[in-house]
Amino acid sequence: MAISSIAAIREAIGVIESRIGAVRAPLGMILGSGLGGLADQIENPRSLSYSAIPHLPSSSVAGHAGKLVCGTWQGSEVVVLSGRVHCYEGHPLDRVVLPVQLLAGLGVHTVLVTNAAGAVNADYKPGDLMVLSDHINMQAKSPLIGKNDARLGPRFPDMTEAYAKELRELTLRLAAERGLRVHEGIYAAVLGPSYETPAEVRMLQILGADAVGMSTVPEVIAARHMGMRVLGLSCLTNMAAGLSGGTLHHDEVKEVAGAATEGMIGLIAATVRAMPTCEVRESFRAHFEAQLMA
Ligand code: HPA
Repeated sequence: MAISSIAAIREAIGVIESRIGAVRAPLGMILGSGLGGLADQIENPRSLSYSAIPHLPSSSVAGHAGKLVCGTWQGSEVVVLSGRVHCYEGHPLDRVVLPVQLLAGLGVHTVLVTNAAGAVNADYKPGDLMVLSDHINMQAKSPLIGKNDARLGPRFPDMTEAYAKELRELTLRLAAERGLRVHEGIYAAVLGPSYETPAEVRMLQILGADAVGMSTVPEVIAARHMGMRVLGLSCLTNMAAGLSGGTLHHDEVKEVAGAATEGMIGLIAATVRAMPTCEVRESFRAHFEAQLMA
C-alpha cells in the first residue's frame, strides 16, 4: 500500500530539517510559471531541491524548476515552493498536494498560490493580474478522495470562503494604489494538458468563470482542508482559446508571464509587508505538530 500522507509529510519534514535546519514560517508560497525570480530575492536563503525531498513528485514542465527555499522576505519568515507539479503530469493528486501539506507541517498558516491562466472574461487583457475570489473545479477530481485523515482536517471541509476575504481586499487595494490592472474573478481549473477548445471556453463563460488554468485548485482544497488561509493570484498570460483569433503556445504563456513578473512580485511584496500573520504562527505550528505526532 502507498505510504499515507501523514507519514510522507513527517518523513519529508524530517529530511528537510536535517538538511537545512529547523523551518518556522507563518507564510508559504507556491509559485507557478515565471515567478521563480521571487525565490532569488529571499534573504539568508536555505534551499533544497525537490528531488532531495522524499515523496515529493518532481515537475517535468519547463519554467517550473522545483526547489524549496526558506528565509526572510519583506520582513517575514517565508517558505517558498518554487515550481509545482500538475495533475496532468500523471502524479496522483495526493502527491500533487503534498507540497502544501508540507507547508502546513512546517508551521505555515497563510499560503499564497500563484499561477498562469488564460483569460475567459472578454474584458480582461493578457498581462493583467487576477485575485481569485473563488474557483470552479472542472478537474473532476479531489485530492481528498479516499479515507479521510482527521489529523489533517475534516471529512467535509467547508469551501464557502476558499480565498480569504481580508487578503483579497488587501491585495486589490494595494494593486489599485500601484496602478496595476488587477481584477477579482473566478478561476476554473481544468485537467489539461491540451488547452481548451473555443466551445469549452464558451461553456466556462456561461458557468461564470473569468480565467482558466490547469493548477491551483487541488492545492487550495488541501490547504482549506487543513484550515490554512489562502490567497490566490493569477497572471493572465493569454486570452483563452477562441477569444483572440490566434492559437495558443506555451512559449507565449511563458513570455507574457515573464513580462508581468515585476508587477506581480511587487504586488506580492506589498501584500506580504501589509499582511497580518505573525501572531498565529506558533499556535498553528504547535497544533499541526501535535497532529503529526498523534
Ligand atoms: N488555458 C489553460 N491553462 C492556461 C492557459 C489557458 O489558456 N494559459 C495559461 N495557462
